[in-house]
Amino acid sequence: MPRYAVFGQPIAHSLSPRIHAAFGEQLGIAVDYRAIESGRETFAQALEAFAQDGGRGANVTLPLKEDAAALCASSSDRARRCGSVNTLVRDGTRWHGDSTDGAGLLGDLRMRHAFDPAGRRVLLLGAGGAARAAAFALADAGVRELVVANRTRERAEALAARLSAARATAWAELDRIGAFDLVANATAAGHAGAGFDLPRSLFAPGALAYDLSYGAAAQPFLAAACGAGAARVVDGLGMLVEQAAESFALWHGRRPETAPVHAALRAHGA
Ligand code: ATR
Repeated sequence: MPRYAVFGQPIAHSLSPRIHAAFGEQLGIAVDYRAIESGRETFAQALEAFAQDGGRGANVTLPLKEDAAALCASSSDRARRCGSVNTLVRDGTRWHGDSTDGAGLLGDLRMRHAFDPAGRRVLLLGAGGAARAAAFALADAGVRELVVANRTRERAEALAARLSAARATAWAELDRIGAFDLVANATAAGHAGAGFDLPRSLFAPGALAYDLSYGAAAQPFLAAACGAGAARVVDGLGMLVEQAAESFALWHGRRPETAPVHAALRAHGA
């Protein structure tokens, strides 16, 4: 039986095995999908062993998305553009890389939160791999303005320079850059337990605050956004389920319904 897995560190609490099992059950496809703990030093070796053992597809999460991009023999345009791979597809004896994070974000925003980024003002916090995938997807979706803010300003500038309708700002300037319809957190700060200091001026009436993480890691940003007057705050559980459905379709040729799987995860406390 072909094998599938998610690689990352830490990985024990990943919801991906549950999500892919639920998709398989829904579509009547037997799915063997596990979580494999691997850091950057061991990833190439672990992925090779997985392939030898019947591995046909893999998801890749923190801190391996850029390493995965480097290990692929070929990759999709969207993965090449953001220099990040979250989905590996076995192609003969080689790996093909793709990035379904951006599509997952847009799918969740549009379908689950009735937010179409077209023509809207968006503030993106962060300039790492997760932020890059989000930035290209939001730019493609036709945002009116995309402001990228990052602790290290140079990284925000490098990302904004690659996108039309985008500009960079420093963290210290957040109280002087106006109001946004969407404020999206793509930093790893919540994972590190760091707090957020968000000025009230950032949130336009009806604004959505969105954290690309889910669970405890999303709480510091969402709590700060709530305190600063965001009309709606949501975590990235929906994005996780949508990107998983995109990966599932790449491997199995059919896209599952995401709503029941998302609802079941929420009902079980995710
Ligand atoms: P990922 O793949 O999750 O995007 P990454 O590429 O290492 O991981 O990027 C991490 C992002 O979180 C960066 O934007 C980083 O800011 P810097 O470029 O200044 O390093 C941001 N980040 C991490 N810890 C942070 C913290 N405590 N406060 C603010 N930003 C933080």
